[in-house]
Amino acid sequence: MAKTGRRASFAGLEKHLRRLQDKPMREMFDADHGRFERFSAKAGDILLDYSKNRIDEEAMAALFEFARYVEVEARRDAMWAGEPINITEDRSVMHMALRYQGNKPVTVGGEDVMPAVRETLENIKTFTDQVRDGTIRGHTNEQFTDIVNIGIGGSDLGPVMVTLALEPYTRPDLRAHYVSNVDGAHMHDTLKRLDPAKTLFVVASKTFTTDETMTNANSARAWLAEALGEPAVTDHFAAVSTNLEGCRDFGIKSDRIFGFWDWVGGRYSVWSAIGLPVALAVGFDTFEKFLKGAAEMDEHFLTAPLEQNLPVIMGLLGVWYRNIWEFSTHAVLPYDQRLSRFPAYLQQQDMESNGKGVTLSGKRVKWSTGPIVWGEPGTNGQHAFYQLIHQGTDVIPCDFLIAARPHESMPPHHEKLVANVLAQSEALMLGKTEEEVVAELEKQGLDAKAIEELTPHKVFPGNRPSNTLMYAQLTPETLGAIVALYEHKVFVQGTIWNINSYDQWGVELGKQLAKALLPAVEGQGDQPPHDSSTEGLLRYYHDLRK
Ligand code: F6P
Repeated sequence: MAKTGRRASFAGLEKHLRRLQDKPMREMFDADHGRFERFSAKAGDILLDYSKNRIDEEAMAALFEFARYVEVEARRDAMWAGEPINITEDRSVMHMALRYQGNKPVTVGGEDVMPAVRETLENIKTFTDQVRDGTIRGHTNEQFTDIVNIGIGGSDLGPVMVTLALEPYTRPDLRAHYVSNVDGAHMHDTLKRLDPAKTLFVVASKTFTTDETMTNANSARAWLAEALGEPAVTDHFAAVSTNLEGCRDFGIKSDRIFGFWDWVGGRYSVWSAIGLPVALAVGFDTFEKFLKGAAEMDEHFLTAPLEQNLPVIMGLLGVWYRNIWEFSTHAVLPYDQRLSRFPAYLQQQDMESNGKGVTLSGKRVKWSTGPIVWGEPGTNGQHAFYQLIHQGTDVIPCDFLIAARPHESMPPHHEKLVANVLAQSEALMLGKTEEEVVAELEKQGLDAKAIEELTPHKVFPGNRPSNTLMYAQLTPETLGAIVALYEHKVFVQGTIWNINSYDQWGVELGKQLAKALLPAVEGQGDQPPHDSSTEGLLRYYHDLRK
């Protein structure tokens, strides 16, 4: 590809759109019996079937060429070499080090970070083992039965999602709860069923300044102190943060503070001590397997040729639909109840990373960036929003996720789940033509008038794209690999869009304004004026509170 700039490169892909836009996938499948083999790839036992996409070999070749043109591999290697690719915060992006299984040094600013990573893991192991076996107990010598993680964003979504996903590895006598929202209802409803004497709190915050988390931590502390007295607090609190001083100031004992580093972004931190509640819930060995699975995906991302590289393929397909076909959303549809928080987790991972409007050099981007990511587990979604995916006016590329083996033997549940996921991608691809609808209605014995009236409503346009990820079982290793796969997909797309996927300035303005508005909400007089909408809402709020 000649060095003509990204804009021209995007434009260059449009000729493939023109060739493919009226080409039904069902015809491409009929014409090529090797389509599945041609458009599928594996990493470990994770199979990516991307044959049900609006692509042909020429289009894929052009996309891989684009990846080479933007030097995805060089940027990946720069990240792994510890270069500060998060330029607006002058930070390296090294979450891969947290799960690295090899013996080579991994350096940030010339320093090998692996000794500190391993020491922290060792501390997490000791602490979690001792809480789980009852060596570490509460102030009144009761064994802990409930862990409450207090955090938000990356300090919540990853651990929540992973704990749910690894439910088969949890113990019924040690339950993990997650409180994130500053809405007092969240803390209240969590605590109302808990016994303070048996509850351990983990305050998780990279900065240890996030308002929601500190407000919740203070409320939890007051609840505990009221029940067991102030001296009990230190026995019932642990913390995870890069701000060790902040943790100490809160009153957390040094041996209960688990650190991490500024080269770990919040939404990439589940692999760090932020995973502490996961390790408490499922045991350190299981948590370690989760890290190992991610490391295997890292190895795949670092070594597989682009044409076989799952994160690269998925990243390129996302760019293909976002920039060339101009589809604005992307649905993630796990056929696994235990992955019910995976879409929410991915919303932060993807949208906080790639929801950017300027290039690395600060110029307005001239192409679309991150899509809206959303989803729910199947089959629930089928009875809710799939109508729109099948027949609505927007085309929504979907990722389906399915394990071959369930954790529990409950035939025919899993067989039905598999039949449904396969049926959905098939239905989206095939659609149902007018002729097929008419033939079906005739067979049902409807008269000509009824057939004419009903047919348009029953036609499915089809040709709607999807990926399917299939793997043996949702083990800790596989979960780790899937999460890392999506992280790297986000990286590939950020590289193509030439944006910084690792900062999040867009969350700051709301925080600033909330802080400024609090005195007015609290009714403190003499506040600076706001726009008439905000003023009107404040007035109405105070009227309702009278
Ligand atoms: O929402 C912004 C954000 O900074 C996220 O990136 C981060 O995961 C979250 O807040 C929580 O931050 P902290 O871990 O510092 O409390």
